[in-house]
Amino acid sequence: MSEKTLLEVEGLKKYFQVGKGQTLKAVDDISFQIKKGQTLGLVGESGCGKTTVGRTLLRIYEPDAGKILFDGKDISRVSKKEAKELTRRMQMVFQDPYASLNPFFTVGEIVEEGMKIHKMYHSETERMERVYELLEMVGLNKDHANRFPHEFSGGQRQRVGIARALALNPEFIVCDEPISALDVSIQAQVVNMLMKFQEEMDLTYLFIAHDLSMVRHIADQTAVMYLGTMVEYGSTRDVYEHPVHPYTRGLLSAVPVADPDYEKAHNRIPMDGEVPSPINPKPGCRFCARCRKATAQCHEETPKLRDVGGGHMAACWNL
Ligand SMILES: Nc1ncnc2c1ncn2[C@@H]1O[C@H](COP(=O)(O)OP(=O)(O)O)[C@@H](O)[C@H]1O
Ligand SMILES: [Mg+2]
Repeated sequence: MSEKTLLEVEGLKKYFQVGKGQTLKAVDDISFQIKKGQTLGLVGESGCGKTTVGRTLLRIYEPDAGKILFDGKDISRVSKKEAKELTRRMQMVFQDPYASLNPFFTVGEIVEEGMKIHKMYHSETERMERVYELLEMVGLNKDHANRFPHEFSGGQRQRVGIARALALNPEFIVCDEPISALDVSIQAQVVNMLMKFQEEMDLTYLFIAHDLSMVRHIADQTAVMYLGTMVEYGSTRDVYEHPVHPYTRGLLSAVPVADPDYEKAHNRIPMDGEVPSPINPKPGCRFCARCRKATAQCHEETPKLRDVGGGHMAACWNL
């Protein structure tokens, strides 16, 4: 496996103005790196800013601050032409396979569309050959090309979404909760397929999830987000086996484990209260209102990520 860093994000911020001078800090100063061929798992509750991170990396959103280095180049501010080339190299697989496929296009047209935009292949025939090849790769077949998305199951639609992403031979894919809308019985199939393609094509993934168990299976590194900030970050092993941030510990202790002895030995850590609003957040640690260990300092000063050993990072005053 190469040691080359493909994506490096530093101090990324994305704010939304939501009326009456209010600022929603969806992503507020986030940094991470992903090595080529590896997967970073990005986890956290709904609304914490995961999708916004993915969309900002792909330049669907303009970042408000920060650097995004892709293959050594700062892509946080690029021309239209460069942005087009980036969409070829960086693709996304969406959370909702129902909403993300145009219902008026056949599956063949959906998979072909990006290749047309990027003027890949010389003829329609060559493009269609590639469409058939992609459909077979994702476990569908040639005959499916003439059908419409509504004729497919959720799992099959997500396969179409993956074929569409792979069509442009990308290097990096944001997988935004690609399995959370699918039946549990087919989630593993889709994840295994993504892992197989990663291996075969040396793909780099940002794998977004709220399902912690799947991330453990797929990610080399894991980052935990809370209300627009990153609270813990490190190798998946460190984060899952030795979580240090109270939020990560709470999240992990809430994952049901099919082993009564484990359940007995690992007391659940309760989290009090609701997730606060990301609009005009108060200074201090974003998690402090729900944290049982919070002190006066936690309410006043925002903790920064710091190394708690061997590159395992956490942002908490009580470590
Ligand atoms: N285009 C937008 N305009 C205004 N607010 C947004 C927009 N997109 C996301 N948000 C808000 O940003 C926060 C983070 O959202 P999102 O990134 O979708 O979270 P997640 O993917 O973790 O569920 C939420 O409070 C959401 O309401
Ligand atoms: Mg999301």
